[in-house]
Amino acid sequence: MEQSSFHLLRSLLVLCVGLGVCNCLRTLSPRLQGLYKNEHTPVVLWHGMGDSCCNEYSIGAVGKRIQEALPGVFVHSIATGEGILADTESSYFGNVNDQVAHVCETIAAIPELANGYNAVGFSQGGQFMRAVAERCQHTGPKMHTLITMGAQHQGVMNVPECWNPSFNMTPSLVCNAMQRLLGFGAYLPFIRDRLVQAQYFKDPFALRQYEEHNIFLADINNDRPTKNPLYAENLATLQKFVMFRFQHDVTVVPCDSAWFGFYNGTQLLTMQETALYQEDWIGLRKLDQDGKLSFKEVPGGHMHFSLDWFEKNIIFPYLDSQSASTAI
Ligand SMILES: *[C@@H]1O[C@H](CO)[C@@H](O)[C@H](O)[C@H]1NC(C)=O
Repeated sequence: MEQSSFHLLRSLLVLCVGLGVCNCLRTLSPRLQGLYKNEHTPVVLWHGMGDSCCNEYSIGAVGKRIQEALPGVFVHSIATGEGILADTESSYFGNVNDQVAHVCETIAAIPELANGYNAVGFSQGGQFMRAVAERCQHTGPKMHTLITMGAQHQGVMNVPECWNPSFNMTPSLVCNAMQRLLGFGAYLPFIRDRLVQAQYFKDPFALRQYEEHNIFLADINNDRPTKNPLYAENLATLQKFVMFRFQHDVTVVPCDSAWFGFYNGTQLLTMQETALYQEDWIGLRKLDQDGKLSFKEVPGGHMHFSLDWFEKNIIFPYLDSQSASTAI
């Protein structure tokens, strides 16, 4: 890498002498820019429910926009199934603990990520990406900035509405099937171990059942009496944790889950009012005290944003290495 950069610079220099500095800079500046921008921190994306890693109408387009805005940046979009169909299916069916473990292994094996990366998790991909930081930050490549968009950090308390990443289309059959299953029994072993959405279902009127039977969210949120100290240590190593909430989100109930808000059965608690924060079960309080947390809003419904909005509000402030160190 360094060797070839050196050769390139040397040939540029030789060329410059030949062309005259002015012309030369004009001719070569895109090239030099490219070289410089190669230093952007790599980006890892985790898609939401009903989407796949590389759907050209949703997350694939997001990945492409990042690469256009930050030439040379390495982008890895997480797939938990082989191929679009299996990957989409795995956003409904499967065991999230297995999926997170698989993602940890995958990213550890990607050489481009060895020096760390920034992560963007979309909808349920938000809390899954957080689980990657909590469970694997001490062994794998380091996540620097974590951005979650409309995540369900405190779970959902009702059956989520089906939404489609290719907006305004009718919900798929598989989504409707998922809803029926979740309504049937989120904590029945057969369902809770296989239905992704059951694994972050948190009914405030059945918290004991949740603590006893939820296999994913209750664990990564350290909601059980026995805490895993590793999660707080790992999450607190983030340089920045930015949570976006969709203002008119009717899919995530309550939508404040995106900011770690929790409806406890009688009132909506802000993150700061929860024991999870006050007793610092997962490192959020530490991050907050260090000025590393931020809470942002997106105007619109769940996962409704344009690529232009994404570029202006996510890519340039947080993923562009030239500005990322100043934005919070
Ligand atoms: C919800 O939180 C408030 C404030 O901490 C508390 O007074 C109330 O008892 C809680 N409700 C339930 C059902 O736990």
